[in-house]
Amino acid sequence: MASKSVFALLAILKLGLGLNTIETEFIAVPSGSSARSSLQFITSQDHVAGLPGDFVMADYLSSAFKDAGIESVETFELDVLLNYPSSPPTLKVSNPDGQVTFAATLSKDVLPEDSTSDTPWRNTTFHGYAPSGSVSAPAVFANYGRPSDFNDLEAANISVEGKIVLVRYGQCFRGLKVMNAQNRGAVGVLVYSDPQDDGFEYGKCYPEGPWRSASSVQRGSVQFNSICAGDPMRADKRYEEMGESLTSLCGVKDYTSLIPSIPSIPISYGDAQPILSQLGGVAAEALGDDWVGALPITYTTGPSTSIVSMSTDNEFKVTSIPNVIGKIPGSLPASDDHPVLLGNHRDAWVFGAADPNSGTASLIEVAKGLGSLVQSGWQPKHTIYLLSWSGEEYGLLGSTGWAELNFDAISSASAYINVDTVVSGDELTVSATPALTSLWEGVMADLDGHVLFKNGPSGNVLDANVNAPINADDAIGTLGSGSDYTVFLDHFGIASLDFEFNSPAGTYGVYHSIYDSFDWIDNYGGIDGEKGSSFELMASAAKMWGVLALRLADSDVLPFDHVKQAEALVKYSAAVDGNGLDLSELNSNIDAYMKAAQGVAEEMNSPGDLKDLNFRLSMTERSFLNADGLPGRSWMKHVLQAPGFYLGYAAMAFPGVQQAVDDGDLDLAQQQVAVVAECVDKAATFLKG
Ligand SMILES: *[C@@H]1O[C@H](CO)[C@@H](O)[C@H](O)[C@H]1NC(C)=O
Ligand SMILES: *[C@@H]1O[C@H](CO)[C@@H](O)[C@H](O)[C@H]1NC(C)=O
Ligand SMILES: [Zn+2]
Repeated sequence: MASKSVFALLAILKLGLGLNTIETEFIAVPSGSSARSSLQFITSQDHVAGLPGDFVMADYLSSAFKDAGIESVETFELDVLLNYPSSPPTLKVSNPDGQVTFAATLSKDVLPEDSTSDTPWRNTTFHGYAPSGSVSAPAVFANYGRPSDFNDLEAANISVEGKIVLVRYGQCFRGLKVMNAQNRGAVGVLVYSDPQDDGFEYGKCYPEGPWRSASSVQRGSVQFNSICAGDPMRADKRYEEMGESLTSLCGVKDYTSLIPSIPSIPISYGDAQPILSQLGGVAAEALGDDWVGALPITYTTGPSTSIVSMSTDNEFKVTSIPNVIGKIPGSLPASDDHPVLLGNHRDAWVFGAADPNSGTASLIEVAKGLGSLVQSGWQPKHTIYLLSWSGEEYGLLGSTGWAELNFDAISSASAYINVDTVVSGDELTVSATPALTSLWEGVMADLDGHVLFKNGPSGNVLDANVNAPINADDAIGTLGSGSDYTVFLDHFGIASLDFEFNSPAGTYGVYHSIYDSFDWIDNYGGIDGEKGSSFELMASAAKMWGVLALRLADSDVLPFDHVKQAEALVKYSAAVDGNGLDLSELNSNIDAYMKAAQGVAEEMNSPGDLKDLNFRLSMTERSFLNADGLPGRSWMKHVLQAPGFYLGYAAMAFPGVQQAVDDGDLDLAQQQVAVVAECVDKAATFLKG
């Protein structure tokens, strides 16, 4: 009891420290008008990974970092496998006599209100890593394409074997929809955006409002991202020189295990509706309440008596992508240096105003703030990296390649702080390694009055400029996958944090379409849909990001809270309890880790050997790596969280245990409990010192 109240008091003290002089100087720099002008340039031309626009934007970032006063800036080019459409896909429906009853235009409307919408990309939608192919078959509707959806179909005796599967976006990563369909024998996949998920169900559609319009299409990668992130070929020559390969890193024989073998096309609801409305078969409603979308039709499952024909023409090639690496060297000797890594991807599916370049505009503001400190003679204690990635959209290529090929730069890193789409709405959400949640709360408390946000997860709308500390228990999520923190956290065990301002829907209406443009974000991406306000949120994000970085790079004692991490482990353990598993050793190791965490929290108040203390605080996270990785996916080495194997994106806690439980394999689950218990034991011993 006594120790508990001591820690409550410590927490209050930590939150109440206020901004120091350096932090105060830093937050005076980021500005909305500066973010606006960066974003205007970056969205002025398409910049898909590896294409000329990507190199133009890499040069722009490189100059922006140098102009900001960052002295060490280099471009790290990486050779990767990519695909691009050689010609537009085709899609039509024929009746059983071979008569064509519907031919999809697969074309997005040019909008006078959207100055970049008249782009050649409006006719060439494709999926990253979808193969070329041409197939004709009856179609079956498989809802969101989750394993549970295919199980529902199977229970109704509807097979997808030999069929073209039509699924809707949402609920799980698109590549795993294709993987799930392929595993069940489908020959092709069409993925459409149902208006229930990001369209008129939410409000007015673009350009009258922010939501997805009838011709709008969500592009995206269909890599099997829950198995291994990064270039599915590990084509860069430096891997071979290091003695590494796709097999040694990802545990698969070749790249065909990581990407689909059947063609897929992303389509609009305008093109999906004529297909959906004539599928026949069973009423979708009979399979479950969530099988019915928002289109004004009766949703049925198929298989259709009509034949759907689809073709894709995608060229695969190994090509170079540019990553921009800025560095502010720390003053500590290399042996004491725990670099902090700030990352954001720059490549976009087309213009990328929200995804990801709202984050890029913020990154430039962070560079300006830190650069001005450097120019005035300041140097951080620990090195700070500013990282502008390419190839994220295809599968986290730039971040994964740089991290795997530059292990020296990251081996002692304290944390990786990511932003991707940092502004697509006005509600603030954050996900983090539990040991970083107190850092986040402290920064947010001290930025009260200096940043704008609404407190998303609690649904509590706060007045602009009047913030409250966020309650970690309710408001800070667990990191899954879907952005560049994956290699740092899941593969290398570096504590990570990711935050964004998004809409209450958790998505936004122009995601991955040609309409994720400057006009959209200017008109609809900001506070309460007020024109021009999104740029102020980008400046606010830069202040949060920069102060997080400063506390990691410039504190005497690194701001890790392992008590929070131990508390999270107690919850994770409770979540897998009740499955016939023996958790006694795991729970007693969690107790030991909690005691070590409480001990180190006291030590942080009167530190002895700073070097040793900071080493233990920041490197304990590495103890949660298991060298063999998770079952069936050796690249994912972190035992505390990972993306769900069949769902992607969303995080699973104790993923080795939970996945085995879900698959009904209790022996494997118990063996994975032992693996986690051993990692927690390692962490407790390491942290105690
Ligand atoms: C795009 O498709 C539309 C509709 O099929 C067509 O009218 C237009 O000419 C096409 N544009 C380009 C650049 O191919
Ligand atoms: C599926 O087929 C099996 C075996 O033919 C039958 O027993 C069952 O009733 C069918 N289920 C449905 C939902 O049609
Ligand atoms: Zn993104």
